[in-house]
Amino acid sequence: VKRDIITIDDLSNEEIENLFALADTFLPAHPEDGESDGPARVRGRLDLADKFILASLFYEPSTRTRFSFNSAMHRLGGSVIESADPMTTSVAKGETIADTIRVIENYADVIVIRHPREGAARVAADYARIPVINAGDGGHEHPTQTLCDLYTFRREKKSLKNLNVLLCGDLKNGRTIHSLVFALARFGARIITRPAEGLELPPHVRRRLENDYGCITVPKEKIDSLAEIPDIDLVYVASKEHLPFESPADIVVNVQLRKKDLSQFDVCYVTRFQSERYSSGEKKSAYPVVDREFLSKSHYKKTRVLHPLPRVDELAYDIDDDPRGAYFQQASYGVPVRMALMATLLGVGKASLSQPKAAKESYSNSEGIACPNPRCVSNDDAEKRYLVPRFWVVPTTPPLLRCTYCEVEVKAGCVGSISTRRYYTDTSVLKSMKLPDVIVFASEQEAQKAGFEPARTPARKSLAAR
Ligand code: NCD
Repeated sequence: VKRDIITIDDLSNEEIENLFALADTFLPAHPEDGESDGPARVRGRLDLADKFILASLFYEPSTRTRFSFNSAMHRLGGSVIESADPMTTSVAKGETIADTIRVIENYADVIVIRHPREGAARVAADYARIPVINAGDGGHEHPTQTLCDLYTFRREKKSLKNLNVLLCGDLKNGRTIHSLVFALARFGARIITRPAEGLELPPHVRRRLENDYGCITVPKEKIDSLAEIPDIDLVYVASKEHLPFESPADIVVNVQLRKKDLSQFDVCYVTRFQSERYSSGEKKSAYPVVDREFLSKSHYKKTRVLHPLPRVDELAYDIDDDPRGAYFQQASYGVPVRMALMATLLGVGKASLSQPKAAKESYSNSEGIACPNPRCVSNDDAEKRYLVPRFWVVPTTPPLLRCTYCEVEVKAGCVGSISTRRYYTDTSVLKSMKLPDVIVFASEQEAQKAGFEPARTPARKSLAAR
């Protein structure tokens, strides 16, 4: 069975560790003089993947991701077919993702795709019989960048556990940030956010940190040792075990932070303003900058500064010669890490992947509620010809619908039963109804417009009777 890497959750922690062990074997065992701390370069070509072809489809600009995937495939002994400019393929003639993929999959053994639409890589994976790797889908996720980030943390800091990681910049639209926070939570790091004004982590990402990963959010004011650091917003701690507080029971009302737990930041992860995700009229307000002066505080003595690159103004060039800057190392690890990932997906690497998780049941209906995210692939005019809105039911109270493409969540307005043509305003019925009988509406008006009538009995009673 093929495995796709669409979100960072498509890999378990153990699988990530195994990939890293394999990536180590691709780097020179004895770095040449002066190279031990600097960027790393894989040498030569192996014959591991000499029977394989990578199809590389980039619908958005890319330097590191595209070149390092291509280089990785060449270093593995394989070959690459690619489109770096959608205007040179049938996309320019209006071809959909599903059609492009059903053609390209016959020409290659693995597909890497970058696309401006959130959820586009999921669509590609749904239509391909060969593994699909997400190289960035809009502002959603960028899981292989996270692999490079974690690999850098591991090489620089030895372990991923208990790290204090400061995230700076556009946390709202940065896809590298979204994949990274979930991984950090899973590996037990403390996440400290320093967003540009108005560009905090999006609500659905914050909710998932708390609901899916058991993170606990602590406002900065609760933390004495952060008082003197400007612009810090929130601290997310991965679980009660990682809570550096005296009394976990008190967290909401009275957090007692042990000073030493947050006295040093292990990583400062800087991101650029994602200008392409904004309409041209929108202006960015003051944007946090990381430079030598920022790093002069005692918290940053042993910090490693990372950046997925490209940088604009948010990361000063005066850190390039500072031993704390590790962003060029980070970019160089793109090759060994992507070699390990592709070799493993193709079944030629020493690491192995477990069977894919059985797909959860999802709710899907061409009528009724649609994904509220205008950048979701399911809202694209061309892709809409064949894509039907599809959601997981998140069992919170009230339950939420999480788009299976872009993972943005929406509250149900009311829930209808297709067989009885009645609707319930108590949306908790979603958790007990059979999904093929369900139609979710954004509002009661929408339900009525579709010819549904309000249920006469309260939801629980009428469902129990059936
Ligand atoms: C990032 C991306 O494309 O999301 N770049 C990368 O892949 N290294 C970050 C960015 O463009 O800001």
